[in-house]
Amino acid sequence: MALYSEKVMDHFRNPRNVGVIEDADGVGEVGNEKCGDIMKIYLKIEGGIIEDVKFETFGCASAVASSSMATELIKGKPVAEALELTNKAVAEALDGLPAYKMHCSVLAEEAIKNALEDYYKKHPEAK
Ligand code: FES
Repeated sequence: MALYSEKVMDHFRNPRNVGVIEDADGVGEVGNEKCGDIMKIYLKIEGGIIEDVKFETFGCASAVASSSMATELIKGKPVAEALELTNKAVAEALDGLPAYKMHCSVLAEEAIKNALEDYYKKHPEAK
């Protein structure tokens, strides 16, 4: 069996939603101390809906694929749904990650949660 699923390879080679949102409503950044990989997520939120999301990931193939898939999973969704996104759901949507690469998907979950925390900090009225 190949180490990575076709979906992982696809999202790694053609990552969706790469970039920066200049006037983002929430920005989240996380890193993994062990591997040194960093992920940053930008959210544009309008009326409780994630209107746009972009990411910058300085990391391994699984981290890039996880960020790409995670942004696809939350785009157009209510904030409440994005808050519930787990790294497991991201990995499942990618048709799985090797066990020792699961921590890469955790970065995506954490970066989104951080960005939403930042959003609530900047927009306390949205709580
Ligand atoms: Fe660091 Fe994948 S090895 S996030």
